Amino acid sequence: GRQWTEIGSLDAELAERTVLIRGAAQAIRSVSKKMAFLVVRQYVSTVQCVLVVNKEWVSPQMVKFATGLSKESIVDVEGVVSIPKDPIKGTTQQVEVQVRKLYCINRAMPNLPINIEDAARSEMEFEKAEQIFRRFLLSEGFVGIHTPKLVPGSSEGGAAVFKLDYKGQPACLAQSPQLYKQMAICGGFGRVFEVGSVFRAEDSYTHRHLCEFVGLDVEMEIKEHYFEVCDVVDRLFVAMFDYLNENCKKELDSINRQNPFEPLKYLRNTLRLTFLEGVEMLKEAGIEVDPFGDLNTEAEKTLGRLVREKYDTDFYILYRYPLAVRPFYTMPCYDDPAYSNSFDVFIRGEEIISGAQRVHLPELLTKRAEACGIDVKTIATYIDSFRYGAPPHGGFGVGLERVVMLFCALNNIRKTSLFPRDPQRLVP
Ligand code: 4AD
Repeated sequence: GRQWTEIGSLDAELAERTVLIRGAAQAIRSVSKKMAFLVVRQYVSTVQCVLVVNKEWVSPQMVKFATGLSKESIVDVEGVVSIPKDPIKGTTQQVEVQVRKLYCINRAMPNLPINIEDAARSEMEFEKAEQIFRRFLLSEGFVGIHTPKLVPGSSEGGAAVFKLDYKGQPACLAQSPQLYKQMAICGGFGRVFEVGSVFRAEDSYTHRHLCEFVGLDVEMEIKEHYFEVCDVVDRLFVAMFDYLNENCKKELDSINRQNPFEPLKYLRNTLRLTFLEGVEMLKEAGIEVDPFGDLNTEAEKTLGRLVREKYDTDFYILYRYPLAVRPFYTMPCYDDPAYSNSFDVFIRGEEIISGAQRVHLPELLTKRAEACGIDVKTIATYIDSFRYGAPPHGGFGVGLERVVMLFCALNNIRKTSLFPRDPQRLVP
């Protein structure tokens, strides 16, 4: 076959060489009947291809043909690599290709329904973040599991579920692997994780809620304190952020050009504040919040700004939440049952994780479920799994789209997903 060159590897060392590339026509600009520019993209790399009419290679018809190409059409370009006089704006590669031959392999329809440029860039972050999550947890002795997504009922209380008919039995799509990952711990797995789809029948249309997202879930035995779970969050996310900064420079630059953002500030040892410390900081800033309630989105955002000013970090853990605002399976604090052994984790003032120590004592679990208005019969097998030697344990759940959105300071979670599912979108 012929020799193909990756667009991402086009550089000054290839100057004067003839190369053959394939990619999508990202932008087409005609300068005159004799000249046009074509930006060709392969994955996240882009290069400017120049068509100038000349006797040997480029005819006016060819310039016209290039100008008429629809965006995202797949093209093959053969041409000579050259170094432009002025630096090029808006492409990842700093060399140009002087076109000699141009073929359209597949013409794209105009009005493409998704933004491939956005998606391709953040998809890279997404894939890398998922990869580091798996690699890190495997290296710390966690076992990857898969739990069913067709389940009999809700696990996160309030949040709405997608109902369905399971061969005559009422069922729904799993809101989280919560109950199953805990049962795996009861079954002696020690430390488990899962990467899988999570379904939420969200009513509200916001910049940060999807109806289907990728959940990263962790559950582990605890020896002495649920801070052992926070320690995993800490090491895992510092490793993830370091990795993204070091290995995704190109994609981050590309996102930055389109949507300038400040790189995430994070500490080597993640800041931990109690919920009440957060309440106190808000109070000092003139914002009153209920010390036994939950923080609303606005208060969370404000606290994010206050924390940044005071501690110089965009990433922190808020722990010891009021028990009343956490799901039934959350362990109350030993010293004050109005609070709980639980935490949320924030990036730039928005939640990316919630986690906690779980109730592993079946009597207390039954009592907590009843107190939360849950019909205990519906979770009998779950509660029973704690009757055969359940160790103290805890864990957390991460929304991967949220992590990518907030790491890159994107203004909308849909930009992190190739095919986002929200209350108004089922296709494509
Ligand atoms: O806070 P949530 O509902 O917690 C759980 O599912 C628990 N079982 C986790 C645990 O182990 N205790 O969801 C966890 C995370 C949130 O912090 C958020 O990042 C993300 O999932 N999330 C969503 N992401 C996108 N769209 C939605 N509708 C989301 N709902 C939650």
